Amino acid sequence: MPIEPIPSRPLPEGFLPPNCTFSEQDWPVLARQWFPVSRVDEVLAKPRQVTLLNLRLVIYRMPDGIRIGRDTCPHRGLPLSTGRIEDDELVCAYHGLHFGSDGQCRKIPEKLALNAAECFRITMFPAVECHGLIWTCLIPQGEPKFPEIHSTIEASDQGDVAKFEFSSSEATVELGNHHSLRDLALNEYRRLFNEMGLTTAAHALLLSRA
Ligand code: FES
Repeated sequence: MPIEPIPSRPLPEGFLPPNCTFSEQDWPVLARQWFPVSRVDEVLAKPRQVTLLNLRLVIYRMPDGIRIGRDTCPHRGLPLSTGRIEDDELVCAYHGLHFGSDGQCRKIPEKLALNAAECFRITMFPAVECHGLIWTCLIPQGEPKFPEIHSTIEASDQGDVAKFEFSSSEATVELGNHHSLRDLALNEYRRLFNEMGLTTAAHALLLSRA
């Protein structure tokens, strides 16, 4: 299960997302867990914003794989999710800086008269496929740990419904007996599953196994 790319510029020590609703003690612990941020088939070349633990991320598909970065352009801090992919590079919609797969700026429009491109780099996060979902971790350490998930498709009046039987014990093992942290992690899983349209089954099973 290759992890790619490794973070090209880790979040700084003591980092908290703007307007963070988690405490400054809880956030870095939760940020070491792996969470699903998208179904694989919903990651397109068009960049899209997703939120994990209050941090806005941009997710997009490049010819060499799926990429996840902080949704903040290192030039003026504007969202990269409004950008586009051009010649295998992510192009910011605001002033046109080009970024390679590793988050490094490769090209700056001449009219901007900015410093060297090496000065601008997006913070990137790993993107790993498992269970048909894309998982990431904001402060990765060691091998990824995913919950056990068994998925089935069941027919219902509304059409086929994906049911995810979900055991979080492995994924949250590092949270030990800190029940409030485990609850926060489970709430985040539930929110993410909701956003992916995997609402009901995952929700119920998550709660029943908490
Ligand atoms: S804000 Fe992205 S290029 Fe200026």
